[in-house]
Amino acid sequence: MRETRGDPGKRADELLDEAEERLRTSEAVEHPHRGKERMDAEELLSFVLDRPPRARERVPAAEARRFRRLVERRAAGAPAAYLTRRVRFKGMWLAVGPGAFIPRESSEFMADQAVRRLVRRPDPAHVDVATGIGPVALAVARAIPRARVVGVDVSRTPVLLARRNARTLGLANARFLQGDLFAPLPPALQGGVDVVTAHPPYVPRGEVKDLPGEIRRFEPVESLTDRSPRGMGLVERLAGEAPAWLRPDGWLLMEVSPDRAREVATIMRRAGFREVRSTKDRWAITRVVVGRRPA
Ligand SMILES: C[S@@+](CC[C@H](N)C(=O)[O-])C[C@H]1O[C@@H](n2cnc3c(N)ncnc32)[C@H](O)[C@@H]1O
Repeated sequence: MRETRGDPGKRADELLDEAEERLRTSEAVEHPHRGKERMDAEELLSFVLDRPPRARERVPAAEARRFRRLVERRAAGAPAAYLTRRVRFKGMWLAVGPGAFIPRESSEFMADQAVRRLVRRPDPAHVDVATGIGPVALAVARAIPRARVVGVDVSRTPVLLARRNARTLGLANARFLQGDLFAPLPPALQGGVDVVTAHPPYVPRGEVKDLPGEIRRFEPVESLTDRSPRGMGLVERLAGEAPAWLRPDGWLLMEVSPDRAREVATIMRRAGFREVRSTKDRWAITRVVVGRRPA
């Protein structure tokens, strides 16, 4: 976008219109959803002003310049959440940054599915594997304060961010450990977990190059693919290892894209899980495959 000095006090809606147009015509920005450019522009301006803009308010020149610089970086492909270092998930602001996967709105559905299955349990225990910055774990910990929640991720950056998020939100019932799948969990938890959730990387290694540039170029590769030929390596390990941690009537919930759900359900059935089915979110899109621990 052109840096037009000498126009102090441009109206917020004018700045947003300019930014929206800039993002719409950028080749580096993917356009999966109509309206996303406007939302990104509004998020960047809210970040600069530290509050949502009012359409007709005049934005001081310094803030307008800062906003335009951020829009330019967004137009070059950087995800808005990495520019603002924050993302909203189920009403919570979470810290995020390069080196950590940006939570998607679709994962709110898995958090709801976990809460539904935990809320009536006497001593609810939840493990979120591949937790990233902890959105699902934190949403459960907030919804059920008496639940014991543990999130695990193999990478250091997301684990540090998840711990920071738990502190900021005052969620002392959620803790975060670094390591491979279930390996860092205390052995005492074996057989005592009501719900395991996982949103694992599942893109086949040969398909990473086909992902939208703003994902492929910016988000950590280990959050996208397990480098197996079909992308199902971690899913298979999760289905094989989760039963040892679950209570007899405990659930495994796995979030995958709709086109992989059938394959994941087959893997879970083969591992002995019962009542395996795909659940659909409010837009009737298959998001989460669920199953009960093998007998
Ligand atoms: C698709 S991201 C999901 C993150 C988070 N659950 C969310 O929805 O925002 C997958 C995460 O799995 C983590 N991961 C990859 N391999 C892992 C492993 N072997 N054990 C634990 N976590 C792993 C990555 O670091 C990444 O944070």
